[in-house]
Amino acid sequence: MTTASYAAALMETVDALRAACATMQPRILLVLGSGLGGLADAFEDASAVDFADIPGFARAAVVGHRGRIVVGTLEGVPCIAMQGRYHLYEGHEADAATLPVRAISALGVDTLIVTNAAGGVNRSFRAGSLMLIEDHINMLGRNPLVGPARDGETRFPDMTRAYDPELRALTLEVAAEQGIALNTGVYCALLGPTYETPAEVRMLGILGADAVGMSTVPEVIVARARGMRVLGISLITNEAAGHTGEALSHDEVMAASAGAAESFGRLVRGVVRRIGSPVA
Ligand code: HPA
Repeated sequence: MTTASYAAALMETVDALRAACATMQPRILLVLGSGLGGLADAFEDASAVDFADIPGFARAAVVGHRGRIVVGTLEGVPCIAMQGRYHLYEGHEADAATLPVRAISALGVDTLIVTNAAGGVNRSFRAGSLMLIEDHINMLGRNPLVGPARDGETRFPDMTRAYDPELRALTLEVAAEQGIALNTGVYCALLGPTYETPAEVRMLGILGADAVGMSTVPEVIVARARGMRVLGISLITNEAAGHTGEALSHDEVMAASAGAAESFGRLVRGVVRRIGSPVA
């Protein structure tokens, strides 16, 4: 798409999102991964719009991903959530998959809390635990910034502190206050949709990954190119392939995320409350 037609399409998306927000100016974008979308059901004064009804958005295709935008307040803080997201393994191009983040950033939202379900590569991680993302490895073979530099985006974004150190420190504090065990580590994104082979999991461990999934990295790259602050949290739904000898299944992933949804929700609420309070 040319720069001009891309900008026009983006503005149409932004206008539709603005209409969905009515008079609310959201501060935080929450991207809710597999099985974690329930948090947006707790929004107050909420309104929702299906991805399919937003110009420029593609239709979501994975079970457990509802594919809607929810606007409302969480802990009194105006938020906008994606219940579901676009994955590259569905066949979406990286720039199409990240259009929601671009548009929501253009709406004036400056903080991204991105979440996902991931396999634990680190042998000390158990199913149902949470990992604060310190850094990532992009093994998708794609980058959403390929092509002309978009308005408001850095051509060569620095990724040294892609996951905001202050937000990470704040999240660790909230976790400690609430008695929630929170590991930290490196998230590695692979294209999928196959889960990894045991040999690939061994490779990922050698490369420095603690968790593996099929999302998040494109959204974080776009967010950083646009200067958003990013916080990332992985829910470790399973020990990665080969660690237990058991086969992996999407049903298992969904069941584990349902089990950990309560502590995940408490952690994110606590973080949102702190971001929303003037001292944070
Ligand atoms: N691998 C990749 N993606 C995943 C996994 C996994 O083990 N678990 C949940 N998402």
